[in-house]
Amino acid sequence: MNDIKKIAVLKGDYIGPEIMAAGLAVLKAATDSQQFKYELIDLPFGGDGIDRAGDPLPQSTIDQAKQADAILLSAIGGPKWDQAPRRPEQGLLEIRAALNLFANIRPTKITDRQVDRSPLKKAYVTGTDFVIVRELTSGAYFGKPRELQAHQAIDTMYYNESEVVRIMHEGFKMAQKRRHHVTIVDKSNVLATSKFWRNIAKEIAPQYPDVMVDYYYVDAMTMAIMSKPTAFDVIITPNLFGDILSDEAAQITGSIGQIPSMSVGSEGPNLYEPIHGSAPDIAGKGIANPISMVNTVAMMLSESFGEKAIAEKIYRAVDAVIDQGDVTPDMGGDLSTEAVTQKMIMHIQSDE
Ligand code: NAI
Ligand code: MG
Repeated sequence: MNDIKKIAVLKGDYIGPEIMAAGLAVLKAATDSQQFKYELIDLPFGGDGIDRAGDPLPQSTIDQAKQADAILLSAIGGPKWDQAPRRPEQGLLEIRAALNLFANIRPTKITDRQVDRSPLKKAYVTGTDFVIVRELTSGAYFGKPRELQAHQAIDTMYYNESEVVRIMHEGFKMAQKRRHHVTIVDKSNVLATSKFWRNIAKEIAPQYPDVMVDYYYVDAMTMAIMSKPTAFDVIITPNLFGDILSDEAAQITGSIGQIPSMSVGSEGPNLYEPIHGSAPDIAGKGIANPISMVNTVAMMLSESFGEKAIAEKIYRAVDAVIDQGDVTPDMGGDLSTEAVTQKMIMHIQSDE
């Protein structure tokens, strides 16, 4: 048995360990009778890293995470470490850099059984299923110079060719595995980096003749995501615009407590995490929504391990609890984290 997948587990802070336990219980139930075998490697990280190893990102965590086949993170941070010399969130920025995780991928999918949870009208959202591919390691958030002075401030929006080329390939390849449609987002009517972005997209597009391409200015895109969310498949966007659009997109589904994400590097394992934080306001109450972590586990099974059938089984269990109202208070239910998790496991076990 040499094909045992190594999963690095960063169990997180506040509600982090609560939803991680739920995600791992579902992983176990969904894979129990399957060929798929895995080993969990518990690594100190974030606030838990500070408490157990004196640092939010100990070197040993980086080394072992790099050796893993996938990294599973819940959420980190919180008031307990407000006075720490290095805060938990620092670890998150550093692990992205250490693993060169240049693409952040966030799905927005609304199944027929979830459609009533959306704040938008049913007619608009039925059939919504797109992913945002956001460039994560360059652009406005990293460009130099960056300065804050008394009477002026500077940020720099920067992209070089290789950064744009690699994110384009990431998005086009993803479209080939989905519905063969890419939407390029930029502000090329105004910004140089955006003209550059669009030019490179146009050069790369012919390498993917089976993928249809369209182009949107980001301001128009904020409207289109709301007014016709079903029109999109893969959306490729620079860092800053992706940050904004992906939060907007999350709202279409109705709850932050259900959305997973994946960050991808040029080599090494992908990192999977829910999009929300450690929710200190509800930690310890047993009411954190486990669905985000369960969807995160399913995304890992599908994307890193090619276990689409197991992932689908998990998604059906998620659909079932949502449909039946067996959910936590954030989604209008009255069940505990544990109870929702047990319901999902029950659905998995009775799913043929
Ligand atoms: P948050 O996402 O933790 O919470 C925002 C609101 O959503 C809260 O009312 C919370 O109770 C609710 N919420 C979030 N996840 C939920 C779930 N699974 N079930 C039910 N309700 C849920 O954002 P906030 O409060 O701004 O940040 C809290 C801490 O998390 C901070 O220390 C922040 O730095 C950290 N953080 C960490 C992230 C990560 O690990 N990737 C991302 C964002 C924030
Ligand atoms: Mg954000």
